[in-house]
Amino acid sequence: MKKNSLLVLVLLTVMVYALAQSQKPKQKTQDTPAASIERGRAIYQKECLSCHQADGGGVPHINPPLAGNTVLLNDKTKIIAVVLKGMTDRIPIDDEYYSNNMASHAYLTNQEIADVLTFARNSFGNKASVLTAAEVKVVRGVKKK
Ligand code: HEC
Repeated sequence: MKKNSLLVLVLLTVMVYALAQSQKPKQKTQDTPAASIERGRAIYQKECLSCHQADGGGVPHINPPLAGNTVLLNDKTKIIAVVLKGMTDRIPIDDEYYSNNMASHAYLTNQEIADVLTFARNSFGNKASVLTAAEVKVVRGVKKK
């Protein structure tokens, strides 16, 4: 009898502990630059690769390269605006003109735009800082996830 109630007590303790653990809020895993770049790679392949190419080299006189692109590496506001609004400016890009137009990609979320630009800024031999969803949100000017 004594032995049985001890067993019940142990079992109850284990069950209560297990329940408490399962109810703990899941710890949000912290985002890292590497994770953003990995998400961005998939977005690039779907949304950008057809024009800017797998190696970021672009297509001569048609689509500009992103590899070594001065604006991509130095002007966050401008490149966010290009992804949001597209680009038909026909202004020189690193001293070259490109005949194609880029369409708006405003349907991407702020996080997706941050990820794809962070990927481009850190691929094809490029090295630049991470770009965040908060920075995209400011340029977009409206609330969107
Ligand atoms: C339909 C082809 C096409 C697609 C798809 C496309 N782009 Fe572009 N992109 C262009 C062209 C063409 C230009 C230059 C337009 C001009 O000269 O007016 C450009 C310009 C840019 C620029 C500005 C470069 C500079 O130096 O000013 C960035 C950054 C860029 N694209 C990134 C991206 C990203 C990131 C994606 C995917 C989300 C993407 N593009 C999708 C064709 C494309």
